[in-house]
Amino acid sequence: MSLPPPSPWGTALITGASSGIGAAMARALASRGYGSTLVARDGGRLRRIADELREHGARVETIEADLTSRADRAELEARVKRTGLSVDILINGAGAATRGSIAECDLDTELGHMELNVVSVVALCRTFVDGMIDRNSGAILNIASTAAFKPMGGQGTYAASKAFVLSFTRTLRLELQETPVTVTALCPGPVPTDFDRRAGFTAEEIAAIPAIMWKSADDVAAVAVDALERGAELCIPGRANVADATMSLLKAKQQASQAVCR
Ligand SMILES: NC(=O)c1ccc[n+]([C@@H]2O[C@H](COP(=O)([O-])OP(=O)(O)OC[C@H]3O[C@@H](n4cnc5c(N)ncnc54)[C@H](OP(=O)(O)O)[C@@H]3O)[C@@H](O)[C@H]2O)c1
Repeated sequence: MSLPPPSPWGTALITGASSGIGAAMARALASRGYGSTLVARDGGRLRRIADELREHGARVETIEADLTSRADRAELEARVKRTGLSVDILINGAGAATRGSIAECDLDTELGHMELNVVSVVALCRTFVDGMIDRNSGAILNIASTAAFKPMGGQGTYAASKAFVLSFTRTLRLELQETPVTVTALCPGPVPTDFDRRAGFTAEEIAAIPAIMWKSADDVAAVAVDALERGAELCIPGRANVADATMSLLKAKQQASQAVCR
């Protein structure tokens, strides 16, 4: 078992916990006895999820933070310190995307998403990994996507940001291989959350995604907690999404083999 056991002095810090996969991760961990620290911008939604978890006996704190803000990230670290809890599990789940070509995108929006999807993941791993190493215990789950494996027209910065998360996560895992701290990349395919609507996808575009690719947030969370327990490097929920990622990797391999120049 690689997941640190539940402890009254420890917490699972989950970003993006106000909805979707992050909220499902909080529920899945609470059902196994873990206390959690839920982070997102929308305090009302965070409190509703916290109340639901407390009804089932879980210890929960909520911290409102805009993770694109360096000041909010520093305040998050300070507030966690004030709780006296150790971050035994870190789940970087907050993420966002837009739909549209690179040539036509709104640059400020894209840069904000890169700050969220990329910079905040690096910053939070850096902030909390030291304590895990010192305590000889800890687990990090970074949520990437099957978009990490391929270029995606209309989602250029999103796919690139998830490729970053996947690469960064694998490197962090490599660097921590002599420690008991585990690092896992979760790469879901399509999940019916607020994500697509927020990204601006139309109902027709969402309906065009084959039914076999979809996994519920609860199913993704269950598979992810299992991967955390095994200390797995990579978790892709659903056989169709594993096949999709494999096809992308085979295509990249083929391109690499043909790219040899003199
Ligand atoms: N849904 C999918 O099809 C899918 C597929 C593959 C990967 N993923 C990844 O899974 C993760 C979770 O997505 P989801 O599907 O659960 O989407 P979601 O329901 O839209 O959740 C996104 C979460 O991120 C938080 N968030 C957004 N901007 C933030 C900011 N600036 N600061 C702090 N928190 C912020 C949101 O909370 P607030 O708005 O309250 O801040 C929300 O809790 C993301 O990293 C996404 O890229 C999703």
